[in-house]
Formats: sequence, C-alpha cells, structure tokens
Amino acid sequence: MSANSHSEESNTQGSRSMSMLELRTLAESIRKDHHELAKLRYDFARIQIEYHNAPNQSNWDNFRRELDKLARHLLLHFSEEEARDGFLEVVKSILPDRQTEVAALRQEHIEMRELIGGLSSQVGSPPPVDLREFNELAPKIKQLFSLLSEHDSVENRLIYGVLEQMKQDRRSQTPKH
Ligand SMILES: [Fe+2]
Repeated sequence: MSANSHSEESNTQGSRSMSMLELRTLAESIRKDHHELAKLRYDFARIQIEYHNAPNQSNWDNFRRELDKLARHLLLHFSEEEARDGFLEVVKSILPDRQTEVAALRQEHIEMRELIGGLSSQVGSPPPVDLREFNELAPKIKQLFSLLSEHDSVENRLIYGVLEQMKQDRRSQTPKH
C-alpha cells in the first residue's frame, strides 16, 4: 500500500469502484489522446492541401498514409472508450444523469466509424483521375472532423464533470471533526 493510499478512497457510488488516482489517470490518458488526435487531424488536413496544390504520387502516398494513421488511432481510441472499464462506462457509473449524452457519444462513434470506413475504401492506391474526383472526398472529411471536434469537446466536459463529482463525493465522505 502506498503512503498516500488513505487519500485515494474508492468511489462507491457507481457499479464500478474506482480510486481517484485511477480516475485521474484515465482522464489524463483520454485528454492526451484527444490532443494527439487533434494533431493527427491537423497533419491530415495539411497533407490534403499539399496534394490539392501538387497532385503527384508522392503526395498521394502521404495522404493515404496520414489517413491510415488517423483512422487506426481513432478506431483504437473509440474501442478504448467503449471498453467495459473504459471512459464511457465510468461516466455512466459516476454521472448517472448523463446517460443520454453517453448514448449519443456511442452513436457518434458508430457514425464516425462509418465515415472512416467510407473514406478508407474510397482512397485507393492509384491517385484520383483528376482533382474533381479528389475533391469529392472533402465533404466526408469535413463531416468527420466537425463531428469529432464537437464529440471530443463533449467528452472533455464529461471528464471534468466526473472529476468534480468524485471530489464532491470525497468531501462528503470525509468525517467532520
Ligand atoms: Fe474520445
């Protein structure tokens, strides 16, 4: 047992017992991942412009590679959030009145998986015949990015809400002298 374990009481409100330390670690890892995803989105948007400005094989290969990197990271991130001990279940457990938001987030994961799948299947190895064909990808990319940006903001607010609730629970559990 660590020296400060007395200050890391378990949450007893939800179906899953989670210490403040575990919760902070989870919150920090989700925040870091959102930050990483924002960077990947930025890199992908940059290479999209680069290909548009110079539609050659090398830029096309970069475009495909960045899409693949973003897609893999996103799919893994969604699975981690949806896991039995993942962020969404933790929110449900600690903030039961936010179930509707959690269900909406799960639904958005489904929509974003579909958008990613659609994009990945459209982006084949030969470059598009012309820029018009390439530009047809833009609305899907835009939709994915705007959905993702709003989605991550909601999740970040929920992370804050969960941490606040845990602090309140701890305060109310602390015996008064
Ligand atoms: Fe997320």
